[in-house]
Amino acid sequence: IVIVIIAVVLGLTLRQNKSEFKSTFLSRCEKFNQTDCQKVWDAFEQAYVNKDPCKVAVEAYDPLIVAAPFKPQCNRMMFWSKTKDVVHGFTEKRDCFVTLEDTLLGSVLDGLTWCGKEGSKGTFTTGCPGWSECENNPVRSFWRRISAAFADVACGDVTAMLSGSIDTPFNPTRKKAPAESGSGRGICCNRLEDSTKDMLWKTARDNNIFASIEVVRFQASRIKSLNVVMVLQQNAKSNCTDPSLKNLRQTLDTGITYSCKDVPESRIQECGAKPEIACGACW
Ligand code: APR
Repeated sequence: IVIVIIAVVLGLTLRQNKSEFKSTFLSRCEKFNQTDCQKVWDAFEQAYVNKDPCKVAVEAYDPLIVAAPFKPQCNRMMFWSKTKDVVHGFTEKRDCFVTLEDTLLGSVLDGLTWCGKEGSKGTFTTGCPGWSECENNPVRSFWRRISAAFADVACGDVTAMLSGSIDTPFNPTRKKAPAESGSGRGICCNRLEDSTKDMLWKTARDNNIFASIEVVRFQASRIKSLNVVMVLQQNAKSNCTDPSLKNLRQTLDTGITYSCKDVPESRIQECGAKPEIACGACW
């Protein structure tokens, strides 16, 4: 009897988990007009359901990107690294820029954890591997895949907010894939063979997404400039003169203009709070 009760309670909890997660997904999704959210859910779920949660490859989310493609938003796309709170504090209040987390897929899954289990049709929100626990976990593969898709459509003048509160604001420490060595600059994944793309995911391993996944996808044919905003708090450790930014310039596809501006965090907050300041005059 005890075993039956435990099994029932466990079963209910797991089902509860699934329905709560799915309803959060759908209700966040429904804020985006003209979206078949059930179709997006189905494409999402197939990536990890009934799989070992440490064996969800980045490519498992390819059908999701097809079901909910990213639309280019030229001159408004904002990338970031280690500046999540200040960036989103700003984009929440002002319409100047769009981050990944303001798009359909980014906003629907932001802050959530999920995984599947071999032999189960369920979605679980507890007992899932942590971000760094295993390489191919469903959450990490998801963010890597959608970050790549967002970077693939970047166009016009692109902005990136990097942190002056760390020693190395641009930190790829990325081994070059064979296809890149010799060219001495970034590559554009749309032109790559599948086998090389696979290699890129592998070399991108433990590094931050901006440096190892997004910047390498920026294409000069679509992007005019990359404008870095260095977010400076008091006692900043780095700024636009940081040597790591030289790597960023070198990684950029030839033809993309680079600029960098040191901006106090307080100025970004002020601009967020004062809609009378024009977007172009924020920094
Ligand atoms: N646990 C959960 N999520 C994590 C973790 C972690 N330990 N580490 C990183 N992430 C995810 C989160 O979604 C977090 O907000 O990666 C995001 C960014 O982490 P950072 O290290 O600050 O920055 P970076 O890896 O460079 O990624 C930021 O990728 O999300 C896209 O377009 C976005 O330009 C942005 C870039």
